[in-house]
Amino acid sequence: MFRRLKDCHNVEELRLLAKQRLPAPIFHYIDGAADDEVTYRRNTHSFDNCDLVPNVLAGVEDVDLSVTVMGQKLALPIFCSPTALQRLFHHDGERAVARAAEKFGTMFGVSSLGTVSLAEIGSMNSTPKMFQYYFHKDRGLNDALTARAKAAKFDVLTLTVDTIVGGNRERDLHTGFTSPPRLTLKSLMSFATKPMWALNYFTHPAYDLVELKSHIKEGSNVAVSVGEYFSTMLDQSMNWDDAADLKEKWGGTFCLKGIMSVEDAKRAVDMGADAIMVSNHGGRQLDGSRSPFDQIAEIADAVGGQIDIVCDGGIRRGTHVLKAMAAGATACSGGRMYLYALAAAGQPGVEKALSNLKVEIERDMKLMGITRLSQLKPEMLRYR
Ligand code: LAC
Repeated sequence: MFRRLKDCHNVEELRLLAKQRLPAPIFHYIDGAADDEVTYRRNTHSFDNCDLVPNVLAGVEDVDLSVTVMGQKLALPIFCSPTALQRLFHHDGERAVARAAEKFGTMFGVSSLGTVSLAEIGSMNSTPKMFQYYFHKDRGLNDALTARAKAAKFDVLTLTVDTIVGGNRERDLHTGFTSPPRLTLKSLMSFATKPMWALNYFTHPAYDLVELKSHIKEGSNVAVSVGEYFSTMLDQSMNWDDAADLKEKWGGTFCLKGIMSVEDAKRAVDMGADAIMVSNHGGRQLDGSRSPFDQIAEIADAVGGQIDIVCDGGIRRGTHVLKAMAAGATACSGGRMYLYALAAAGQPGVEKALSNLKVEIERDMKLMGITRLSQLKPEMLRYR
């Protein structure tokens, strides 16, 4: 079936549109996850084990979707998590996401493995911005990343803590996906079957990992898989002291992305972090890890009110956002929920993805009998 953006009413339909447009290796890089992809599926399915219990007759004509998280007031309770390599998915890459997020008054993240410079993003955009930091072996690169994020006035620095080695992404092993794309007979075939993608890729400025290429060739001039990149370039000795040093050097709002246990959430509070993103990296790292939603209640019971808690991953519906917030999340975020849309249609695609979610959240709040997200509480949830 031929799909059009305006007919995509949910994340799954945007996913299918992305599949229609992208060469297979790139689609499977976004869509795939680790090992048997159990955690990836579970991230969304866990919401089905929990039901909402609405109240009625509440006078809900005036609904406010805003939240404050990491010191930023957002017009939506969901923001775009940082994700890598965006110009491979659509030639506008991070620019498209930045503009769409700005239109919806929400935050977005830019990865260390981003494809548009932090300086450019900083100069074009007034919406809250998160920089996703990867702790490299190369200390010169680490310091350069912090300095550039500071100079570009990013609002939050987020240290990724769940990629100490690369996950086993078997779809990438099968397709041979690398950054930059390695041209083999097989990959040429898949690019040739998506000529619009290929035309755009080859007629726009050369793709590279713009913040890394000053220090390392891998990812820009030397083709590597993301798994190989994590396993060879990142520093496996990273520990809580390194996180504390980084927080000190940054001196601004600091978040840890990839916290799953109550124990680590408490340590994040102890080190003075402002926020944690409860996340298993979209099921792309440790398959068998619990879903973020299933961990929110325990973490909120232990550290709620002491640190912002973001439910990152698996969100496909407005009701998922409401369930996560009723369980104790301060806000929600996601990668694929806007990445399929970016790949499908650039900025208008990301706007469509955010608009679908906004409309759903607003409708679902009214159906739940609330006008403010702060009215969500654990008593509104029942677990099966
Ligand atoms: C991933 C990284 C780059 O592929 O976030 O999961």
